[in-house]
Amino acid sequence: SGRQSYKIALIPGDGIGIEVIQEGKIVLQKLAKKLNTFDLVFEDFEWSSAYYKKNGRYLPDDALTQVKKFNAILFGAVGAPDVPDHISLWGLRLALCQPLQQYANVRPTRILRGTTSPLRNCKVGDLDWVIIRENSEGEYAGHGGTSHAGQSWSVATEVSIFTRHGVERIMRFAFEKARSRPRKKLTVVTKSNAQRNGMVLWDMVASEVARDFPDVEVDKMLVDTMTTRMVLKPEGIDTIVATNLHADILSDLAAALAGSIGIAPTSNLDPTRENPSMFEPIHGSAFDITGKGLANPVATFWTAAEMLRWLGQPAAADLLMLAVENVTENGIKTKDLGGSSNTEEVTKAVCDEIEKVV
Ligand code: NAI
Ligand code: MG
Repeated sequence: SGRQSYKIALIPGDGIGIEVIQEGKIVLQKLAKKLNTFDLVFEDFEWSSAYYKKNGRYLPDDALTQVKKFNAILFGAVGAPDVPDHISLWGLRLALCQPLQQYANVRPTRILRGTTSPLRNCKVGDLDWVIIRENSEGEYAGHGGTSHAGQSWSVATEVSIFTRHGVERIMRFAFEKARSRPRKKLTVVTKSNAQRNGMVLWDMVASEVARDFPDVEVDKMLVDTMTTRMVLKPEGIDTIVATNLHADILSDLAAALAGSIGIAPTSNLDPTRENPSMFEPIHGSAFDITGKGLANPVATFWTAAEMLRWLGQPAAADLLMLAVENVTENGIKTKDLGGSSNTEEVTKAVCDEIEKVV
């Protein structure tokens, strides 16, 4: 038969990453079984800070060859209290994203039913954004070095890299995304007043690409102004494109404005589909709450829905989000959303809801 089967690599990583990926797998299995229209085959990878402490590295030599056999990667989080964050981030997450050319990081943000925004006048439906983050270069290109290390006169550089190729492909992706949404609006976030080289190229390429998208309404905004607009006029924003660093910061703000970092999903996409894309909740390993049953699994469920959408199962993705929002609306929520349910209770409620809505 033409029944689709998807191979999913699970990389739970560290801390609550392990907890939420387990819940994500349960919910995905439930959904696939109930729908009975496609198959999901999971394989677990132990790459994590524990693996690093044992083997001296986060990934084996053939890691990329291994993950390329999968249709998608579902990633938890990486980061441990006794490993410097730049070692864990570059050792695992960026070591996958960058060679797999997952240059588009996509972060949808909206207020789920039954949850509240810390913004006084912002209700469900008032905030509906997609942030597109350049995910391969810019401020996180890894260009830089340290001289006179350890001396009182040590010097360090962190050089941003903006290539015409890199900027053009993320702009095209962002304009396409904006075009696919009802309002067809794109805000290009920049800082070309102060950063007068890379950001000027960024703006220039944005306006060139804009000519190919006359149906998309585009505006340009400085990143600092953007933070105030997100708080004061959230309903006027739709699709946003920003650099690696700017979007990193704006999307954490966005997650908080939508209620909690515990609900926010992200996709690291290779839009050419040459390589598997990687899906992850935006939160980290949260060692302050690890092992306590406090981790909100909703970010991972939403992430799983985004993964299904990318794999070509939009109806399954919509059903999963319907189930999740029915659960939040029924008040079954973890503490970060003001509820009193634990991680497993939320998962069970979502599985019960899938049973009803499918
Ligand atoms: P974090 O996202 O792990 O935690 C920030 C705060 O949000 C904490 O108070 C935490 O308890 C809470 N929180 C996060 N996710 C939650 C959830 N699902 N449910 C309920 N509460 C939640 O960020 P933090 O503390 O800055 O970083 C901790 C470690 O995670 C560090 O090692 C950092 O490098 C790493 N990290 C890794 C990321 C990744 O793998 N993509 C992303 C962000 C941080
Ligand atoms: Mg971040």
